[in-house]
Amino acid sequence: MSKPKIVITRRWPQEVEDILVEEFDTTLNETDVPMTVSELHAALQSADAVCPTVSDKIDAEVLGAANMKSTILASNGVGFNHIDLDAAKAAGLTVTNTPDVLTDCTADLAMTLMLMVARRAGEGERHLRGNQWTGWRPTHMMGTSVTGKTMGFIGMGRIAQATAQRAAMGFGMNIIFYDPYPPAAADIASLNATQCDSADEVFAQADFVSLHCPGGDATHHLINADAFSKMKNGAFIINTARGDVIEEQALVDALKSGQIAGAGLDVFEFEPKVSDELAAMENVVLLPHLGSATRETRVAMGMRVIDNLRAYFAGNTPGDKVV
Ligand code: DGY
Repeated sequence: MSKPKIVITRRWPQEVEDILVEEFDTTLNETDVPMTVSELHAALQSADAVCPTVSDKIDAEVLGAANMKSTILASNGVGFNHIDLDAAKAAGLTVTNTPDVLTDCTADLAMTLMLMVARRAGEGERHLRGNQWTGWRPTHMMGTSVTGKTMGFIGMGRIAQATAQRAAMGFGMNIIFYDPYPPAAADIASLNATQCDSADEVFAQADFVSLHCPGGDATHHLINADAFSKMKNGAFIINTARGDVIEEQALVDALKSGQIAGAGLDVFEFEPKVSDELAAMENVVLLPHLGSATRETRVAMGMRVIDNLRAYFAGNTPGDKVV
């Protein structure tokens, strides 16, 4: 039997690519340059499966390719707001993602951002590397303590819960959250978390607001000027979810006016572009979408895609079927 033909849109860790090449008739992207719409069309027209990542926009235009051969989009990443699920469904495509394996890694990064921005770690490093450090003194670069403070979560799924666990157990923080689809009562109790009835309730109480909601129309610009105005004066915002949950200009304005004290961001509204104003600010920590970027996790994500492909081509329902 011939092997299923698959197209991989970006470079994946070598050990994962080796397995892909062995098990499937695989076209890799050795240049790692994002594919154009016409290249994606060609992939969908020639391969049984296309394996995009969260930075490939698979919208109605891409999925409008004539005579598509592909029947599955096995995406590498947990988020799927880069794929137009309605268009995929209408085109008869199965869509899979890679949940679970990146939960801890992304929670670690949310904590990294919170600690870095609260303790002015990026700013301190720039200060030292810029030869500006003149020595220890009692008032030098005072940051904000996290112990005993309130961390407020917007969205309380797997990654939020793992972050909350670190914040509560490791740093003695109080946990509050808002999620229209809250976790089981036992999970809430194990974190000693308080459920709020609205995002506004979280904004009013949190010293650190951490975003963990999915991307997409429902959460686009959820954090806008109005939301910032409801946050505690001097609050911090952390985003490891999706960039466009925050309206970037409103964030810049809230930072400039001092309404909020700082931001720790791993994702951006116009990713990979970041506004010059934001990039020039000292009280923000800016990372290039590194949430899942450890070797262990990126290999596990790739393997999760392979598991989904194996199941699909064996005639079974893939474990991570989204539609
Ligand atoms: C995801 O998987 O959705 C992240 O944004 C990248 O790991």
